[in-house]
Amino acid sequence: MKKRRIDIFDTTLRDGEQGPGCLLTLDSKLAIAEKLDLMGVDIIEAGFPISSPGDFKSVQEISKIIKNAKICALARARKLDIDTAAEALKKAKRSRIQLGIGASDIHIKNKFNTTRDEILSIAHNMVKYAANKVDEVQFFAEDAGRADNIFLAKMVQTVIDAGATVVNLPDTNGFCTPFEYYEKIKYIIEHVPNIHKAKISVHCHNDLGMATANAVAGLLAGAEQVEGTINGVGERAGNTALEEVIVTLFIKNLPIYTDVNPVFIGEISKIVENAMSNPIQANKAIVGKNAFAHSSGIHQDGVLKNRNNYEIIDPVMIGIELPDLILTSRSGRAALRNRLEALNIYSSEIEFEQYYERFLAIADTQSVISDKDLIAIFR
Ligand code: KIV
Ligand code: ZN
Repeated sequence: MKKRRIDIFDTTLRDGEQGPGCLLTLDSKLAIAEKLDLMGVDIIEAGFPISSPGDFKSVQEISKIIKNAKICALARARKLDIDTAAEALKKAKRSRIQLGIGASDIHIKNKFNTTRDEILSIAHNMVKYAANKVDEVQFFAEDAGRADNIFLAKMVQTVIDAGATVVNLPDTNGFCTPFEYYEKIKYIIEHVPNIHKAKISVHCHNDLGMATANAVAGLLAGAEQVEGTINGVGERAGNTALEEVIVTLFIKNLPIYTDVNPVFIGEISKIVENAMSNPIQANKAIVGKNAFAHSSGIHQDGVLKNRNNYEIIDPVMIGIELPDLILTSRSGRAALRNRLEALNIYSSEIEFEQYYERFLAIADTQSVISDKDLIAIFR
């Protein structure tokens, strides 16, 4: 099977920072950007320069230090936004502006109070305007998830004609299901005559909890770039969690791959969590505190026999250490014996049974039994 290479576009510093309470300092942004570059992320969206002087400076400073990744800045389809973004990107080794406008009739009528034709004309003119100012122009068709596919195809054709080399079709409001998003991306790829001159990018939001599923569906439909954030942070329910996409690409035998190194995932997840003071939910896939924790007796026994029984991801692959089995009232004898041996506590079978009963009685009254508790029970 010939595999297609997918570009990974990180927007933790732009869309991710738009999440309530997720504001980042300049130093944190620089540290995150450097780590993303080290991981091998292809494009870093560093900010929205016209939105504030602080964001302008962040894009400027990130542009100066990043060696490999392309640096992208966001702009609306307005000359001043584009000029400001281009100015902030001046020092980038490889610069990209992402500019766009609404594509759904809901946005065209309720946000822009205009017509489809007028929207096409603005999109065309602004892409053309930006094309002379940076290395690459990416266009976003806002609310593509709810847009009419025939109009969307016209829009994509128009902006490619004007010079866009990447076209992002965001499910801005997280409205699509994976099958709908797959069909949308496939429709565009099959119906836009000049599509070979550009890459399609997928950008999904998690309002229905489908952001990662939608992004992977879009990639399988033919998109060549995926956008997302570390830990899935972002507006409302957040964006596609990039670590989920990266690990999926590594462990599934799909016709697509990435060159990003997953071994940095554990580390960058922690950096973003601490910098944003935004605790990751315990059961979050890949990076949640419980993502590799087994606490029921049946699962613990299975894991002790062979981790493959209940683990589809090797934690070492994402650079984290194997956590100890958690001892709770649902734990069985195998897990207790394993932990006691690790603590150098050995007992006869009869002693062990008594010990196990005492352990259960206490475990029924508290959620987790620590090593300290175990030693106390033994004494
Ligand atoms: O969700 C969205 O539509 C966006 C665009 C600005 C790309 O974040
Ligand atoms: Zn978004």
